[in-house]
Amino acid sequence: MASSFYETDKALSEYLLFHYGLTKELVPPILREIGALDFPVRCVNECLDQSRIPPNARALDLGCAVGRATFELARLCKNVIGIDFSQSFITASEYLKAHGSIPFECVEEGELTLKYRASVPPDIDRTRVIFETGDAQALRSDLGPFDVVLMANLIDRLRDPRKCLNRLPHLLKCGGQLILISPYTWMVEYTPYENWLGGFTRAGGPVRTLETIKEILAPDFDLANLKDLPFVIREHARKFQFSIAQASVWLRK
Ligand SMILES: C[S@@+](CC[C@H](N)C(=O)[O-])C[C@H]1O[C@@H](n2cnc3c(N)ncnc32)[C@H](O)[C@@H]1O
Repeated sequence: MASSFYETDKALSEYLLFHYGLTKELVPPILREIGALDFPVRCVNECLDQSRIPPNARALDLGCAVGRATFELARLCKNVIGIDFSQSFITASEYLKAHGSIPFECVEEGELTLKYRASVPPDIDRTRVIFETGDAQALRSDLGPFDVVLMANLIDRLRDPRKCLNRLPHLLKCGGQLILISPYTWMVEYTPYENWLGGFTRAGGPVRTLETIKEILAPDFDLANLKDLPFVIREHARKFQFSIAQASVWLRK
């Protein structure tokens, strides 16, 4: 099962570094200049309209991985739930909530590793956050509603993304903000071809993911903003994945 990648030690260390540790000493200058660092922080700061967040707001970070955006949401919302399918990621997130930091090793070259520590910024109130394992395609029925829902780099890792999107109207309060971010990297290992939302030709024309998302969400949401969000995931000292995700920000009607 492809999603088991997110249970591996490799994924855990890459994501701890991606969320908490991709600091200047670990990234060569050429990648720093692109503005691709601090992706989970930018998912919150650059996409959310803070003026629309009510007092005592509730937020959901769906596919939260190791939780950095979940913690960042807690700066703006009183209660935040981070949900991920990976037990390994949720265990690390809960450790970060309890202790504020977690040691890990990142790969330099081959078997050579560097000891590192992921830390939640000390000014974040970690008691506002809870983490749980869950499937974005089969969420528990008593979960919503929320003022903010963030789905970063999740839809193209789901077996049935349409099922997840169809639940969203029930998860958001009227006026609530949905931030949907993805590089639309469709892969049959995660999403059977017949469930892709875009990236193929139909009736002689290209089908693009954003257009399909618009068709699904338009009855219940207004599109408020579109934005490119570059990000870098470090595999080892000399190998980085560079992507440009598209963020679409939606307001629940
Ligand atoms: C590409 S990572 C992105 C994680 C994080 N939001 C980020 O931007 O760094 C995809 C995440 O989705 C999670 N995931 C995959 N399938 C899922 C599902 N059915 N329900 C919830 N989370 C899922 C994975 O465990 C992984 O943490």
